[in-house]
Amino acid sequence: MPERKGSDNPAAPSTTADTPVHVAIIMDGNGRWAEDRGLSRLEGHRAGTQNIRTIAQSAAKSGVKYLTLFAFSTENWSRSDNEVTGLMDILGEVIEGEAEEMSDAGVRLNHLGRIDRLPPPLQEAITAAMALTQDNTGLVLSVAFDYGGRDEILHAVKRIIADGVPPEQLDEATLNRYLYTDGIPDPDLIVRTGGEMRLSNFLLWQAAYSEHFVTDVRWPDFDEGEFLKALDVYRNRQRRFGGLRPSEAG
Ligand code: IPE
Ligand code: IPE
Ligand code: MG
Repeated sequence: MPERKGSDNPAAPSTTADTPVHVAIIMDGNGRWAEDRGLSRLEGHRAGTQNIRTIAQSAAKSGVKYLTLFAFSTENWSRSDNEVTGLMDILGEVIEGEAEEMSDAGVRLNHLGRIDRLPPPLQEAITAAMALTQDNTGLVLSVAFDYGGRDEILHAVKRIIADGVPPEQLDEATLNRYLYTDGIPDPDLIVRTGGEMRLSNFLLWQAAYSEHFVTDVRWPDFDEGEFLKALDVYRNRQRRFGGLRPSEAG
């Protein structure tokens, strides 16, 4: 029987789950939220961004250790120049407006994805926010921006080859170390707002045994009450990781 070790090998089958250690959220529905109100898509993104602070605070209060937010996918570049530029500007404003306060609250900020295609001032803001918060020991808040699960795996494989890792030494734990999520456990719970039942290239490798929670509520309306509901639903899930229910295990 293969040995179980590291974050890539989940714990033994359990009964109901506790508070998730890592919650990842696909923050979708900003555009539809805006459309319903006769606003521009960018106004929807702005409203959505204001929600990040609420959910980060609620996650920290609830005992969640890692919160990962999908903010811009490698496919989102296909949107209009106006929307793409607006999203870059909004992220820059959030970092500038929130990093200090988040740092005071003990949050460690992290970026997942490619940084090289972002405008240089945004790259600098991300790097500075990560440096500012690197020794913090509270919630680890990762923002996936220009992130794609396939891009991440490809990037990892290229570096593994470049490093000359011999095939017989390549195992799941080693591959994990080459992913953008190095050091972060797999998400226990993946929440998607806006109602679509798909991953849209989010955390493809890491989602192997994640629980899913999809709500029709659009991201700007996803408040603390909705977040706590998702945690409650998760706590009633039975995770088996390919094993049997405890009652069947004998
Ligand atoms: C999610 O909201 C944010 C990003 C993908 C950047 P959308 O912009 O996808 O909103 P909908 O899906 O059009 O409502
Ligand atoms: C997923 O939403 C990406 C983010 C929330 C950043 P999309 O709106 O891009 O996903 P699809 O196109 O509906 O699959
Ligand atoms: Mg969408």
